Amino acid sequence: MNTTFIDACYGRKTDYTPVWMMRQAGRYLPEYKAVRKDIDFLDMCKTPELCVKVTLQPIERLGVDAAILFSDILTLMEAMGAPLEFHEGRGPVFPQTIRCAKDIERLHIPQAAEELSFVMETIRLLRRELKVPLIGFAGAPFTCSTYLIEGGSSKAFWETKKMMYAAPEIFHQLQRKLTAATIDYLREQIKAGAQAIQLFDSWAGILGPQDFAEYALPYVKEIMAALKTPDLPKVPLIYFANNGATLLELSAQSGADVIGLDWRVDIAYAISKIGNKAVQGNLDPFALLLPEDKLRKRVKGILESAKDAKGHIFNLGHGINQFTPPSQAKVMIDTVHEFSGKK
Ligand code: CP3
Repeated sequence: MNTTFIDACYGRKTDYTPVWMMRQAGRYLPEYKAVRKDIDFLDMCKTPELCVKVTLQPIERLGVDAAILFSDILTLMEAMGAPLEFHEGRGPVFPQTIRCAKDIERLHIPQAAEELSFVMETIRLLRRELKVPLIGFAGAPFTCSTYLIEGGSSKAFWETKKMMYAAPEIFHQLQRKLTAATIDYLREQIKAGAQAIQLFDSWAGILGPQDFAEYALPYVKEIMAALKTPDLPKVPLIYFANNGATLLELSAQSGADVIGLDWRVDIAYAISKIGNKAVQGNLDPFALLLPEDKLRKRVKGILESAKDAKGHIFNLGHGINQFTPPSQAKVMIDTVHEFSGKK
């Protein structure tokens, strides 16, 4: 097992900087599209053999230092009883929005070992194949709430903010339920063999620090603490708050071992705010479209700016875009390895 990624998460010295990419299994890979063309996305997420296959694709093609379980943050909410649909070109849709206490009562906290057994089975199968660590994941409660309240993706988040300000008790009730569900789900992922966990807070950046501290962070803390109990194998925990440059000091208090950085923030500045913790990031996914020499320069710039970090895991600042040529991702990964001293 190559433990470079795990070592970097804990701020141990490593021979080189490990690298993986958010959304590394996905539509930019022709071999992913070949699997996906015959099956609906959600059905694919429930078929362990296919999840294993696509999880392994970027490992084989690109030589990344960690694998991320193929699934989606929204499958947990479907298991909680919120019907979920994916519409081509429109993304996820929850036709039954969650807007009041009665709606929340209809959601249940799944026994993840049984009701999300396909995820656990994928993890167990992957561990037999992989020579790099496997990252499990979930959405952070705040981000999950936005999908349930809005009924899908959103630009303005009016319904979410309406609930936060006009009916805070209802909002917190939803957060509490999502937190309980996420804790069981992630504990089961660790028991099944996940060797690190990332919590994705894709929409945390719509909150100012005061609201982040009140409505989002306490639940993230609760989840992180529940994953660090002595009865579970010890695994590094990563918290990624997208668009979180103004939330760095707060994110650093989340209990995570690693703070994920989006591309909007200068990495040296972020390290100075976070202090004694590893960071992960943060190349703009679209920078992969730069000509090769400019891309290499950008990658080296980030590596140099991150040299004083307690640990650095190179990553994109958000998920890789579907229009990226895989060869460009390979240039990035090879540059990280070569420039940081991999032999
Ligand atoms: O990173 C990986 O390779 C692992 C798999 C993974 C997926 N989604 C697969 C996926 C992970 C970690 C996610 C997380 C996820 N899902 C997030 C958090 C990260 C982020 O991007 O901010 C969010 C917000 C979602 C919800 C989601 N899933 C949306 C909004 C969409 C539609 C947008 C899109 O890119 O099409 C999805 C679908 C989805 N999840 C795809 C993949 C590969 C594309 C589905 C397809 O094949 O058509």
